[in-house]
Amino acid sequence: MRTSVFTISCMILVSYIHNVAAILNCTKSAFVPHLPANATILSATVVAKNGSYGGGSQDKDFPSSATGLPALCAVQLQVYEAHSSYMVGVFLPSNATYNGRFMTTGNTGFGGGINWPALGIFVQYGFASMSTGSGHNSGAGDATWAINNTEALTDWGYRAMHGSVVVAKEVIAAYYGSSVQYSYYSACSGGGRQGLKEVQLYPEDFNGVVAGSPPWWLTHLHTWVVQIGMSNLPESGANRIPASMFLPIQNEMYRQCDPQDGLTDGVISDPYSCNFSSATLACSSTKTTSCLQPSALDTFNTLYNDWRDPSGNFLFPPFALGADYSGLAGSTSAPSGFGTDFVADMVLNDANWNWTTFNTSIVDLADKLNPGGANADDFDLSSFQSHGGKLIHYHGLGDSLIPAGSSILFREKVAEAMASSSLDDFYRMFLIPGMGHCRDSTVAPWYIAGGGQTIPDSSHSVPGFSDAQHDVVLALMAWVEKGDAPDSLIATKFLDDKVITDVVNQRPICAYPSQAQYTGSGNVNESSSWACQVGSSIIIPQARLGH
Ligand SMILES: *[C@@H]1O[C@H](CO)[C@@H](O)[C@H](O)[C@H]1NC(C)=O
Ligand SMILES: *[C@@H]1O[C@H](CO)[C@@H](O)[C@H](O)[C@H]1NC(C)=O
Ligand SMILES: *[C@@H]1O[C@H](CO)[C@@H](O)[C@H](O)[C@H]1NC(C)=O
Ligand SMILES: *[C@@H]1O[C@H](CO)[C@@H](O)[C@H](O)[C@H]1NC(C)=O
Ligand SMILES: *[C@@H]1O[C@H](CO)[C@@H](O)[C@H](O)[C@H]1NC(C)=O
Ligand SMILES: *[C@@H]1O[C@H](CO)[C@@H](O)[C@H](O)[C@H]1NC(C)=O
Ligand SMILES: *[C@@H]1O[C@H](CO)[C@@H](O)[C@H](O)[C@H]1NC(C)=O
Ligand SMILES: *[C@@H]1O[C@H](CO)[C@@H](O)[C@H](O)[C@H]1NC(C)=O
Ligand SMILES: *[C@@H]1O[C@H](CO)[C@@H](O)[C@H](O)[C@H]1NC(C)=O
Repeated sequence: MRTSVFTISCMILVSYIHNVAAILNCTKSAFVPHLPANATILSATVVAKNGSYGGGSQDKDFPSSATGLPALCAVQLQVYEAHSSYMVGVFLPSNATYNGRFMTTGNTGFGGGINWPALGIFVQYGFASMSTGSGHNSGAGDATWAINNTEALTDWGYRAMHGSVVVAKEVIAAYYGSSVQYSYYSACSGGGRQGLKEVQLYPEDFNGVVAGSPPWWLTHLHTWVVQIGMSNLPESGANRIPASMFLPIQNEMYRQCDPQDGLTDGVISDPYSCNFSSATLACSSTKTTSCLQPSALDTFNTLYNDWRDPSGNFLFPPFALGADYSGLAGSTSAPSGFGTDFVADMVLNDANWNWTTFNTSIVDLADKLNPGGANADDFDLSSFQSHGGKLIHYHGLGDSLIPAGSSILFREKVAEAMASSSLDDFYRMFLIPGMGHCRDSTVAPWYIAGGGQTIPDSSHSVPGFSDAQHDVVLALMAWVEKGDAPDSLIATKFLDDKVITDVVNQRPICAYPSQAQYTGSGNVNESSSWACQVGSSIIIPQARLGH
């Protein structure tokens, strides 16, 4: 299936262009009279068409520049809270390309810095685009800044995002001489969590939010990572799953689970409903290599079952079958820093904390402290709903950093908290079979122009399919602006995830709880051969939902 439907993309984008003209020059002094008292301007830079802009190596989270930009004005601000401050980056596209709309994007993990690459993507759509530095400067995996720093933690948790949105809207209104028509948010991972916090705490900030793969339950996610790392230690222990078993385990999960969704195609569509027997991984008198000894098999079962405290209370859902746990297995001597750093730097304020002392009492402590107020666990989204807000939430079922089950849990908790509402009127969730953390799959179509998704040969959107069916940002806009609620999104896989003129396959990603099923006829690589269905197989076991 080859395609060259680029004319469609041009037509759609043109229809969103909005007749608003910049009234300020792109200079620091032009902005100064228009800034609120709590903000200062650090720079205003004219970027010519096809130019680039970024923070360089000083921006530890996003050292890469945005490139191939349309003509724009790049603004950097500092916004002051009572006891802290944070940087804000804004791209203001020129008159010719501005679509009259505002797009905010997010950060990643523990990181702080302005997400210039993502701003570069969103400005291509015509959005006046904003990213907050979130109040500190660090890479995604570095939480040491948080030790004894509750102000910075709170900025990272939710405060910097909201403060940046408020000031950016004012700056944008001043630059173009009129307020934005619509405000949007799109980001994945840590950015997905930030989007959910906005929906929960500041429902008036955005008309629409796309939140991908959110670590919304930080206090349980990160402690679970410590727990699963400990389960697989020490290196010499009989309980340890040898690295040589990672691939055989994957293969066995695919062998059993792939056919159960009705089509053996290298994609596990419904991992949480797979009837999987780990017994086939066990060593026996006839199978002595490429197998797990009894205590290593126990470890495997720990990784792929709910985490519970000693009293049996549910703490966190497991990896989905098919998600490879090797990335979180930790080193040969310690659990992954993704878990231990959270506990040391954000919960205990003790960089020398010895993880061997970990037990589930630390989960209780983490919940009590809720560092930075960062858990996005207020499940009553009715204020956002009554403001007319629309939420698109997605998660890759093959995510091996943040289990997709945590998103299913979030959705079910919202359903419980808002029992009287029809969630689908304002909140839809899409589980993407085979997709890893925010992006990528070797076989399954995964690309929807979501946060953190990039195709090297393309500047933005879904090349050749730049419409509300294939591009999650355009889907959100169509829902907010035209009332077209997305029943499905069509995910795309380009050749080598790169060659935009060569589509390998496309498939609908259905709004939860429905799932894409092959209709039984037609080319499996074409989305028209699939239909969204609610089948019995998609019922998620209650145990997995924390009841
Ligand atoms: C945008 O349009 C306004 C009004 O037409 C004009 O004054 C301004 O110079 C234009 N700005 C740019 C950057 O083209
Ligand atoms: C913008 O800059 C131009 C050239 O320097 C100047 O002539 C013009 O007055 C400025 N416009 C505003 C609104 O400051
Ligand atoms: C855009 O900039 C890049 C990098 O500087 C350059 O290689 C390319 O030729 C430019 N394209 C156009 C159309 O000017
Ligand atoms: C954090 O604060 C505690 C309690 O005041 C103190 O004991 C500890 O040394 C501090 N840690 C760092 C790294 O500053
Ligand atoms: C900054 O000032 C503006 C305008 O007064 C206000 O709306 C906003 O809430 C303030 N932001 C912070 C972070 O204090
Ligand atoms: C899994 O097993 C249950 C109970 O044996 C059965 O009802 C269900 O249909 C099976 N599901 C699949 C996908 O095979
Ligand atoms: C952590 O505690 C374990 C068990 O008491 C001990 O063997 C190990 O040396 C400690 N590690 C560090 C870095 O202190
Ligand atoms: C858990 O660890 C804490 C601190 O190391 C300790 O005080 C507590 O007794 C432990 N609890 C259990 C149930 O082992
Ligand atoms: C679907 O795509 C895969 C991967 O490119 C290919 O191996 C397979 O032959 C295609 N199937 C059809 C029916 O075109």
